Amino acid sequence: MKKKSHRRHTLENSSAVSLISVADKSSQISEQYRTIRTNIQFALSADQQIQTIVVTSSGPSEGKSTTAANLAVVLADSGQKVLLIDADMRKPTVHETFSLLNSNGLSMVLTTKHSVLESIQPSGIENLTILTSGPKPPNPSELLGSARMDRVIEEARGHYDTIIFDMPPIVAVTDAQLMASRADGTILVVRENVTRKESLAKAKELLAMVQARVLGVVYNGIQKTKDQDYYYSNK
Ligand SMILES: Nc1ncnc2c1ncn2[C@@H]1O[C@H](COP(=O)(O)OP(=O)(O)O)[C@@H](O)[C@H]1O
Ligand SMILES: [Mg+2]
Repeated sequence: MKKKSHRRHTLENSSAVSLISVADKSSQISEQYRTIRTNIQFALSADQQIQTIVVTSSGPSEGKSTTAANLAVVLADSGQKVLLIDADMRKPTVHETFSLLNSNGLSMVLTTKHSVLESIQPSGIENLTILTSGPKPPNPSELLGSARMDRVIEEARGHYDTIIFDMPPIVAVTDAQLMASRADGTILVVRENVTRKESLAKAKELLAMVQARVLGVVYNGIQKTKDQDYYYSNK
């Protein structure tokens, strides 16, 4: 078995995901994230602008948060002002990945008078700002579907070039579908040997139902070699 070639950004936190694009910019995996970035930038220049991007997958633990965080890092690296929002208020991990407090965040913005700008935190990475999930609310879907969420998106649009939403799985709960219907683009993560064919078909169906614009599918591979973890397809 090959050992994992990259460290977790925060070793002490169990839910933190690997920020390979920070740890090793020259790695093949970082290059894959830059390829995804290029694809998005292409889509961006093609017709309409893609400012808000939802990252989801059919089921749990398929690499949504890993993809969202690393994509946010490489986009910020290209000079864009990026806001990463942890919109998975059920199983939030972004605060752990970036070692941030989570007492304020999206749930607070949606339930109090706090604005987005009052609730964001610096990521420690240039051009990358974070809105953590905030404390777990009892009704995440209701909050994400609210008119208040529309105002959150509008506020974020006014201050950032790209806004990335880390979402829960789309098949089990309606959160990602609600957001995909309003976002400029959606990225669907598929994890090799984990994502089931029927679940992927269901995920695509749910996205089609709300006319989500699927920018692409990110194949999050098993760790066969350190060079083959992630690749991107436009299908
Ligand atoms: N390709 C991979 N190889 C090994 N571990 C991975 C891979 N992708 C994700 N993981 C790990 O699996 C766990 C779940 O990933 P995460 O991105 O949090 O998934 P999700 O957000 O879809 O639940 C994390 O601990 C993450 O570091
Ligand atoms: Mg996650």
